[in-house]
This record gives sequence, C-alpha cells and structure tokens, in this order.
Amino acid sequence: MAMPTRALFQDSLRSKSTPLFKFMLFLFLLSMVLGHETVEVEHYPLVVSTWPFVEAVRAAWKAADGGSTAVDSVVEGCSTCEELRCDGTVGPGGSPDENGETTIDALVMDGATMEVGAVGAMRYVKDGIKAARLVMQHTEHTLLVGEKASAFAISMGLPGPTNLSSSESIEKWAKWKANNCQPNFWKNVLPENSCGPYRPTSYLEHTDETCLKTYAMQTTDLRFLDLGHRIHDTVSMAVIDRMGHIAVGTSTNGATFKIPGRVGDGPIVGSSAYANEEVGACCATGDGDIMMRFLPCYQVVESMRLGMNPELAAKDAIGRIARKFPDFMGGIVAVNKKGEHAGACHGWTFQYSVRSPGMKDVQVFTVLP
Ligand SMILES: *[C@@H]1O[C@H](CO)[C@@H](O)[C@H](O)[C@H]1NC(C)=O
Repeated sequence: MAMPTRALFQDSLRSKSTPLFKFMLFLFLLSMVLGHETVEVEHYPLVVSTWPFVEAVRAAWKAADGGSTAVDSVVEGCSTCEELRCDGTVGPGGSPDENGETTIDALVMDGATMEVGAVGAMRYVKDGIKAARLVMQHTEHTLLVGEKASAFAISMGLPGPTNLSSSESIEKWAKWKANNCQPNFWKNVLPENSCGPYRPTSYLEHTDETCLKTYAMQTTDLRFLDLGHRIHDTVSMAVIDRMGHIAVGTSTNGATFKIPGRVGDGPIVGSSAYANEEVGACCATGDGDIMMRFLPCYQVVESMRLGMNPELAAKDAIGRIARKFPDFMGGIVAVNKKGEHAGACHGWTFQYSVRSPGMKDVQVFTVLP
C-alpha cells in the first residue's frame, strides 16, 4: 500500500506543485490515515477485566456482542466469575473470615447515568453482582450492607438464604485456627500471637519507645507474612457496549481471615472500579484496605479526562499509593473510550484480560511492577 500511495503523491506533485496544493494533498492523506485508525479503535464492543478470568470475559463479550447493554454484559461477566468461583476469591465457598464465614462484596456502575449499586459484607446470598444491580435499578440507594443486604436481595428474588461455605473454606479456616489465628488483620492489640478475643493496647501501658517500635515492626512483618501469597482478590471488569456505553462491575468474597464486618474496596465506587462514558473506565485490585483510601479508579478516569493516556493515568494512581505504602500490592487497568488500554502495578506482577473485535479470543496482558 505504501508504494502506490507514495507514487501517487509524487506524481501529483510533479503535475501540480503549488504550495497550497501540496498542503491540501498532505491533509487529505493525513485524514485517510487517521480516519482508518478511528474506524478501528471505535469498533466496539470491548471487555477489559482484572486477571486472566478468561471465561468471565468471554461471557461478557458474548453478551455485549449479541447486543446486550454494558450494564447487563458486565453483570453477565462477573456472574460467570461468581459461578466458577474465579481463583476461589470470587463468589461463594472462599475467603473465610475469622468466624469461618464467607461474605460477598460487589458493585455495578453505569458510566452513562453515573448510577451505582453495591452490596458490602452480604451474607447468605451468592449472587453478588446481581444483588448490586438490584440496588442500582430498584432503589435510590447506592450501598446496602450485611444481613440487611441479604434480606433485600432475597426479597427481590435472588436465591437464598444459602450456606456460602465450602469444605475448602472450612478446612482453610480450621488450619488457620490451629495456627493460633495467624496471620490476621489486627494491630496494637493483646494477645499478640494467638486467637482473640483481643483488647486494645493502650499507649499508656507502653510508654517507652522500644515498645512502640516493636509494634510498628510487627505490623510490617505480618503484612509480609500474609501478603506473600495472594489471599484476597477481585474480578473488576469494564464493558463498552455496541452503542459505546460504558459500565463497570466488581465481585469478590473479600480478604481471607478478615475481621467480620470488614468491607473492602470491592463495593467502593471510585476505588475498585469507575466509569464515565465521556472518558473511559478503570478496574483495580489488590490491598483493598489501602487502595480504598486513595480512590485510585476515580483518579485514573479524571486523569484521562485531563488528557493523560491510560498508561500514564494508571501509573500515576499506583504511584500515589506506593509513595505512602511502599509494601502495598495492587494492579490497575485503564481503558479510554477510544478502546486504548494499559495497566500498572506495584508489589506483584499483574495481569489483565481484553476482548475486542480485532481479537479472535480473549488476550491476557502481563504488567510488571
Ligand atoms: C455450611 O457448609 C459447610 C461446608 O460444607 C459446613 O461445614 C457447615 O456446617 C455448613 N453450615 C451450616 C449452618 O449448615
């Protein structure tokens, strides 16, 4: 293609060589090149998800390609992850809390209307993302939690109450109990190295500096212990449907051995996911307790609005967290409405999945810290 174009260009130059004509021809050729690219990148639908949750991405893609809305497609994708119990960290039967119970956090956001529905620490109901969609579509609220979220979900027709434990989750929990409930998420409490009940250590009881230092060290040590291997994770997914509308969704059963009542970043809008269809979307995963303090996905989308490309926006959001919490682990994937996507991560190697019209199947991208 390059040769004939150049030949045409030179031919035209020879016959008509006024500066204005050259300029017009240049503009014409430029618009051909740019026009071609625009057609390619605007070829929706598009699905992006944290981790190689290939089946979930395929399910969302199939829905979106078949003409489903972005919201319904993202619910389809995340539901598939819940059913397959992706990595054991999504859906029922994984991540027991200190009492051995599994609870569900989930969120859905419509980037066209900026409507959000979410559930946190929901008990006895396995369909997290569907419960989140019910909150979004049938209430004026944004977030329902705990047993009241379960009652709402069941009253709106979702199956339950269901036992969310599995033999694996109970076995994992029993081992942890046998290991003196270590590691755990407590700090500055007594007893230090065994199961609860715990009581706060008062700084009055430990006024010398050595003691305070010991507590700071202990916190760090525990983090290394329990974060060496991933113990909490999330499916966070973005879909751009055929109309160009964007939605995001997340689902997780939270951090393993969490303190009962803990809600992570999963149902926190702007933290685990965010979408604004004028700009694009973002999906995040990692140490939710830390990440939710920074609303990294809100940051990413707003950075892209101000002109950053997805890669720079994702790196900037990760960097802001890493400067305060150098040991944190997290990954972010950003996608703009042109369909350009990029990831950034800290503390681990992160992977994300993409399915676009130009791909034969889901592709997995690896991002190094
Ligand atoms: C829930 O399921 C787990 C694992 O199968 C089992 O150990 C536990 O007893 C069940 N709980 C109830 C209340 O039935």
